[in-house]
Amino acid sequence: MARKIANIIHRGGAGKSTNSEMEAYFLATLYNKKTLLVDCDDQADVSRRIKRTFNKTDLEPKKRFMRGIRDFDLSDTIITLHENLDLLQGDWLLENFDDYLKDNVEEKGRFFLFYTLFKELDKHYDYIIFDTKPRTSKITNNVVCASDYVIIPTKVSRGSIEATQRTYNYLADISDYNENIELVGIIPYFESDTSRTDKNFKELKQAFGDDVYKHKLKWSDRVLSWEDEGVTNNALQDKFAIRMFKKVMNETMERIKKIEEANNNGN
Ligand SMILES: Nc1ncnc2c1ncn2[C@@H]1O[C@H](COP(=O)(O)OP(=O)(O)O)[C@@H](O)[C@H]1O
Ligand SMILES: [Mg+2]
Repeated sequence: MARKIANIIHRGGAGKSTNSEMEAYFLATLYNKKTLLVDCDDQADVSRRIKRTFNKTDLEPKKRFMRGIRDFDLSDTIITLHENLDLLQGDWLLENFDDYLKDNVEEKGRFFLFYTLFKELDKHYDYIIFDTKPRTSKITNNVVCASDYVIIPTKVSRGSIEATQRTYNYLADISDYNENIELVGIIPYFESDTSRTDKNFKELKQAFGDDVYKHKLKWSDRVLSWEDEGVTNNALQDKFAIRMFKKVMNETMERIKKIEEANNNGN
């Protein structure tokens, strides 16, 4: 069965898509895990980026995501980018998801459509990574109900505590529908390195303690150029940026291992 990880924060520009891409990239290429990346944002940022990374910009699925949802079968929506990596790419028609649920699914099933759909795909993968929208939405509710783990990527700034707290509150509310969901942690991203960001980071640590990752992400011009070129690992600057994300990914794996050990010991 696949471990399913959702990257969520109700804020744009926090690093959801970047982290989702890097998680899928490392799981597939470094950890040798069969991975499916699912882009639930109708803007489809992560789909464009990861297709560039694997030189598959022209590859399109037989069926778009929303069509697969309507047909209750996602099998023809998935494309293969690498021997270990599949992508269910974002679709602008996902903006119709909320209306589709309202008109076609009875009320008590509206949180669990993805749970059922992705259960079918479970056996093919070791990991399923979800990228999500920056706003609250029924599609994100469905992602949480289909997932085992949540990661909260946070850009360290004045608004980050509020945004993170809002996301905690949201997860607390929605855990009524998925009692097994576990928080892996908060990945802090420093867009700049000033005394103000240090102060904001201290406040974040004070508010969320050990939920905040030990490893931090910093601004890197490579990450910006990866948006156009895909992730590359050639120049020295690439290697610095890759190493930074790799440390975060290792921490993710350690955190998941700890959670699973604690659960197995009945804690
Ligand atoms: N470590 C980083 N260094 C430089 N730019 C970054 C970094 N992380 C993210 N970005 C850029 O910031 C923007 C927002 O990040 P993104 O992952 O798309 O956030 P979200 O999905 O939460 O909206 C993107 O243009 C992305 O390339
Ligand atoms: Mg995004």
